[in-house]
Amino acid sequence: MMNIFENSQTAEILIVDDEPMIRDLLENIMEKTNYACYFAKNGETALEMLSRQTFDVVLTDIDMPVMGGIELAKIIKSKFTADVIVMTGQTRSYQYDEIINIGASDFVEKPFSPREIILRVNRVLRERHLKQETRKTHDELKESYLDSIHRLVMAAEYKDEDTGDHIVRIGQYCSLIAKKLNLSREFKETIYYAAPMHDIGKIGIPDKILLKPGKLTSDEFETMKNHTLIGSRLLAKSKSKILQMAHEIALTHHEKFNGGGYPNQLKKTDIPISGRIVAIADTFDALTSKRPYKDPYPPEIIYDILKKERGKHFDPEVLDIFITNFDQFLKIRGKIGTFEGRTDQHFMLSERDKEDGEIV
Ligand code: C2E
Ligand code: SIN
Ligand code: FE
Repeated sequence: MMNIFENSQTAEILIVDDEPMIRDLLENIMEKTNYACYFAKNGETALEMLSRQTFDVVLTDIDMPVMGGIELAKIIKSKFTADVIVMTGQTRSYQYDEIINIGASDFVEKPFSPREIILRVNRVLRERHLKQETRKTHDELKESYLDSIHRLVMAAEYKDEDTGDHIVRIGQYCSLIAKKLNLSREFKETIYYAAPMHDIGKIGIPDKILLKPGKLTSDEFETMKNHTLIGSRLLAKSKSKILQMAHEIALTHHEKFNGGGYPNQLKKTDIPISGRIVAIADTFDALTSKRPYKDPYPPEIIYDILKKERGKHFDPEVLDIFITNFDQFLKIRGKIGTFEGRTDQHFMLSERDKEDGEIV
């Protein structure tokens, strides 16, 4: 028969019981294992220990003064990562589902045999390790998925001297805007990964246009506009939530709030919120950066250009959020990559902004 005390894994176990005798009993049982055991005499002390150290399993009594095992288990499940095994006494009989529903991984009835306790702890630890392995595989998959996307986006834009910093920044601006707009956590995370793909359709635009040092002719600009349609086709019909949003963004990030954008001249809230957010983040990043046709602009000029487009290019609500928190966006701009913004007046304006006499 397998020796149940010989565990290949070590683990940190916290035992919570108000009766010294039970604690001693459990200490004697656990001494034969590889597990490191710690003891607390009530829920409050247990929480203190949990905040200082990580435990794999908490084995807790139910009826204790100060804080009972049920309340303790609930708090552990909401704040910590430990598995909980509940030991029920005889004063009241608990239903199995009552205990499992609060998130406990198992329970034992007192009085218990040493063998039973060890078997249950072993089983909970085995499941715990399996879950951790699955989680690790999931994280690795997600990481390689995001890495592939990052490389594809870089390939699509092949601008000289590009390190891909702007890809990371766009995601950060957008999730910060989403946060300030009180959008859901899921939206915030999805747009963080989806927004960087907004210009992936530039892969289908000739270099001659993409890297042209001056203003585009109107024919060239018409060609350029196709990057929204090309991108949306590339990203269409995916099962991935991130790619679904990326598709939506690729298609709508050049729409304007007043209906003057492209490719579909959508107006106001017919433009998905993701597209309205990226429109501002994208323009801000373009204005703070060097392009073949312009220098980076100083912050005050960028602020004025953006504000002037309130309700025209940009959704007024999103724009207000952006300019109220302008410093935070500048900070992101400064932190990732180099911020070449100059405060002197000798920078090259784009033709577009030169034509717009109001700006400088
Ligand atoms: P991009 O350079 O990434 O710019 C994205 C958007 O930021 C632009 O969309 C525009 O809304 C805003 N933006 C960029 N630069 C300026 C600027 O100097 N002043 C102002 N006020 N806003 C600016 P848009 O106009 O639809 O352009 C889409 C893409 O077409 C640009 O992406 C760029 O790749 C290309 N493009 C546009 N105009 C020119 C140009 O004159 N020369 C060249 N070579 N490419 C251009
Ligand atoms: C831009 O669209 O990014 C600049 C336009 C211009 O140079 O006129
Ligand atoms: Fe674009």
